[in-house]
Amino acid sequence: MNGPNLVLIGFMGSGKSSVGRLLAARLGGRFVDTDALVVRRAGMPITEIFARHGEPEFRRRETEALASFTRRRGIVAATGGGIVTTPANLPLLKQIGPVIWLTADEETIFARVSRNTRRPLLKTPNPRQTIAELLATRRPLYEAAADLTVDTTHRTHEEVANVVIEEAKQRFPWHP
Ligand code: S3P
Repeated sequence: MNGPNLVLIGFMGSGKSSVGRLLAARLGGRFVDTDALVVRRAGMPITEIFARHGEPEFRRRETEALASFTRRRGIVAATGGGIVTTPANLPLLKQIGPVIWLTADEETIFARVSRNTRRPLLKTPNPRQTIAELLATRRPLYEAAADLTVDTTHRTHEEVANVVIEEAKQRFPWHP
């Protein structure tokens, strides 16, 4: 992959994994994902890690996964939606590469995440309200971590990947 690693942050349902896979394919890099690495290392799904060990233990493992990406080159790294809630992750994100924040409006996020039940934090009596609350607390954290922000609301994954590549080429040291 020419150019720097790329890191994708953003709320659940912002398209980090789908867009990340496309970006890696387009740029000739490898796609990596903190959630996938945590699950692989634990040998159990995220819902089970939360249920058996609790959220703090999940966060500890998430930071470990993120730290392992700082030693890699030629990667597009997707991260879990809560990555910015652990302050120690901020310098790690920056160390991996330019940080791209994928955003979407609340309505769109709700529609996207309603399609599956794999997210323990949204197993609440009122997921819509949970999303609103989490978004409100996290928005400033994503903003502080981001080098570039791309709105995914009315875009396909392919369109988002195109925008990310175009903007990244202009903003970050890129050696075609
Ligand atoms: C979380 C988001 C999930 C996963 C875990 C916690 C969060 O990842 O890491 O369920 O705190 O927002 P996705 O953003 O890929 O859904």
